[in-house]
Amino acid sequence: MIYPILTAEEAARTIKNGDVIGIGGFSSVGTPKAIPSALAKYATAEHEAGREFQVGLITGGATGNPIDSEMALAKAVKFRTPFQSNKDMRGAINSGEVQYFDLHLSMIGQDVHYGFLGKIDTAIIEASEIEENGNVILTTSVGISPTLCMVADKILIELNEKHAGKLRGMHDIYVPENPPYRKAIPIEHVGDRIGTIDVKIDPKKVIGVVLTNDSDHLAPFTPLNAETQQIGNNVAEFLANELKRGGIPKEFLPLQSGVGNIANAVLGALGDNPQVPAFSMYTEVIQNSVVDLMLKGRCQYVTGSSLTLDEEALQKMYDNMDVFGPRVLLRPQELTNHPEMIRRLGIIAINTALELDIFGNINSTHVSGTRMMNGIGGSADFARNAYLSIFTTPSTAKKGLISSIVPMVTHVDSSEHSVRVVVTEQGVADLRGKSPSQRARLIIENCVHPDYKELLWDFLRLSEGKGLHTPTSLRHAFAMHLAYEDTGDMKNAKF
Ligand code: COA
Repeated sequence: MIYPILTAEEAARTIKNGDVIGIGGFSSVGTPKAIPSALAKYATAEHEAGREFQVGLITGGATGNPIDSEMALAKAVKFRTPFQSNKDMRGAINSGEVQYFDLHLSMIGQDVHYGFLGKIDTAIIEASEIEENGNVILTTSVGISPTLCMVADKILIELNEKHAGKLRGMHDIYVPENPPYRKAIPIEHVGDRIGTIDVKIDPKKVIGVVLTNDSDHLAPFTPLNAETQQIGNNVAEFLANELKRGGIPKEFLPLQSGVGNIANAVLGALGDNPQVPAFSMYTEVIQNSVVDLMLKGRCQYVTGSSLTLDEEALQKMYDNMDVFGPRVLLRPQELTNHPEMIRRLGIIAINTALELDIFGNINSTHVSGTRMMNGIGGSADFARNAYLSIFTTPSTAKKGLISSIVPMVTHVDSSEHSVRVVVTEQGVADLRGKSPSQRARLIIENCVHPDYKELLWDFLRLSEGKGLHTPTSLRHAFAMHLAYEDTGDMKNAKF
């Protein structure tokens, strides 16, 4: 080992009040764990001693619950970017305690590289191996770890014994140059390897290594219910029909699928549909469902930035490396979410909306336009550039008291211009080539829950026939949201 060994506490104490730290990992896996936890405790001790201690926190994406939870509860975070999905961090953001900068995940690496976010003092990453020359093999994700190591003044490494030697060869590390030297990314097929298996490290920057043996801390997956299963079936059936009518080439196209329950249902349904040929995935997050699809031969190749797998699925992968080794590549998010790749490969992108409006605008992030849920993540990187961008959502939320389809979204993450198809458990609306008024009719007819259909027809009737390109009524656009705020039920809205 060419680097000094430190305890997590010693490593944490090298970070100073006001520093900006970059934590590696992606989608809750492959993140360092011991040092951030020690840092949160150090912050608490500093506060108790009457001293200020806060850092800026930059990550690739979600960090896994302990980091965001412990850092938020310790009031150790001054600003946070680009994505989180944690209850405590969400609370700190919505109370104004943490300044949050919600950003497309394809952009955070280059923003850091361009220097838009200032100096990064320390990069903290998790490795499965440290090579003789000091370079590292990462663990279950890549995210922006290679970029953080390039730009940070200092590097702390957690060497996690749990993955030692198991992931060698699975990473494909390539970071695009900054303009004007950036070249075309030479990936023509999903599985083309273009980079190195290790992350280059300048040994002079490494302060030390902390030895760990800890699993990733994933929130448990919620089991599928009838509603999510139906959404999955609707998407699979739509894609099978598109294939049949020639809207998708007979070889099929690479899929991207968002995170969570609906994404798992969609992939499961696609895998079970005999009309859909075995496919490949060019995605951000590789979830549990992909492991089973690969073992069944339904998914032939997958590339993503993280193996967001529970212990059982990860073990299944480690036990079947003859299947997975040659078919899985982990890449920096600068590649997995790159608009050039998404547009050129012709990705079919499937993401989840919090709410959508009858014209096809998508809100993925803000409850009632004001309270941050998670962040935009990679949803709009994919939606904006995909061959076919599909958004899914259950037609109602909060036991039917909220309609996920409203007259006007309270915040726009993906606009009507990027959204081709919307799917709920009620059905599918194919918005391609449709005007706003045609889109509104299709969405209300095919996707809205029966309890809200008449209400939304009433809204549309207020403005239809008045010579408006987008038949909306500004006076009534948020009436359903206001009815929920005032009475706890959107159905009480009046038009
Ligand atoms: N209004 C208010 N609350 C709503 C709502 C609406 N229209 N729709 C859903 N909710 C609430 C749910 O009730 C639930 O609340 P709870 O946590 O108190 O139970 C919460 O929002 C999450 O909803 P759920 O149905 O469990 O959704 P999910 O886990 O599938 O997540 C998103 C949905 C939109 C939050 C999630 O997909 C996301 O963060 N997307 C943006 C990032 C992204 O797309 N990443 C993938 C790109 S690769």
